[in-house]
Amino acid sequence: MAAPRQRYRAVITGASGGIGAAIARALAPRADALVLVGRRAGPLETLAAGLGIPVRIVCGDMLDEGTMVAIEAAAREIGGIDLLVNNAGVSDFHAFETQSPQQIRTMLDTNLLAPMLLTRRLIPLLKEAPTAQIVNVGSVFGMLGFPGFAAYGASKAGLAGFSQALRRELSDTRVSVRHFAPRATRTPINSAAVDAMNRELRTAEDTPEAVAAAFLDFLGGSAWQRTLGGQERFFVLVNKLLPGLPDGAIRKQLAVIRKHLPK
Ligand SMILES: NC(=O)c1ccc[n+]([C@@H]2O[C@H](COP(=O)([O-])OP(=O)(O)OC[C@H]3O[C@@H](n4cnc5c(N)ncnc54)[C@H](OP(=O)(O)O)[C@@H]3O)[C@@H](O)[C@H]2O)c1
Repeated sequence: MAAPRQRYRAVITGASGGIGAAIARALAPRADALVLVGRRAGPLETLAAGLGIPVRIVCGDMLDEGTMVAIEAAAREIGGIDLLVNNAGVSDFHAFETQSPQQIRTMLDTNLLAPMLLTRRLIPLLKEAPTAQIVNVGSVFGMLGFPGFAAYGASKAGLAGFSQALRRELSDTRVSVRHFAPRATRTPINSAAVDAMNRELRTAEDTPEAVAAAFLDFLGGSAWQRTLGGQERFFVLVNKLLPGLPDGAIRKQLAVIRKHLPK
């Protein structure tokens, strides 16, 4: 007889948006309860109403301490959690020298500091579960630096480093720390300029539903890290071993990238 599939009690940040909402929908049939987090109440309420399982909504900014407190309270209300999905994120396609210090701070605070602080707060609760996972949603651009995404890439590279170190730190506990890196995905995080550049560079794009299906597959496995896209995985590997090769290839794309960078 096949072993029963694991059921989850999860916190998902960024659930009002493309990938987070798709993950919530894909996970719901295998979840006993969810805590969904975002800043916009409307999409969170619509999503929650269609899931058919108990849901707590936390509507707040990940940069506010109060949101972290509310997430922990909601996680306790649903009886504890065994899965934290740090998915909320922002992007900002710009030449680095044109980004304001405030934009750079917001990027790092949202994509790196907020998931670190939320993780820190929820580790004691995760440790109470028989087994638990923290999945940090990074990006191919955290492992393969790309023009126009210097601050974004730095935030996602930081998240990958955090995931690896914390995974090792908690390796003698029942909490595993994992890193899931999508490639370009059709969601509102990408501006019209990014969409136009992707079309011109013929960059492959996933749907949020395909990313969510890959996420569920990843959850059921034991790899600590998953990068989506065969070609992207290859480029990430080459970038690690022989970074001069992608330097040259991306240099050839620079004129097209610059054409699409916001002035
Ligand atoms: N789409 C891609 O091409 C792509 C590729 C690789 C990795 N990723 C990563 O995938 C994750 C999800 O992105 P997505 O594509 O689904 O983007 P999205 O549709 O724009 O969704 C982003 C989500 O993050 C939430 N969020 C952003 N800032 C927040 C804040 N300060 N406080 C609370 N919530 C906040 C948004 O909530 P509100 O809108 O309600 O504020 C929204 O739910 C991100 O970490 C992104 O970096 C995306």
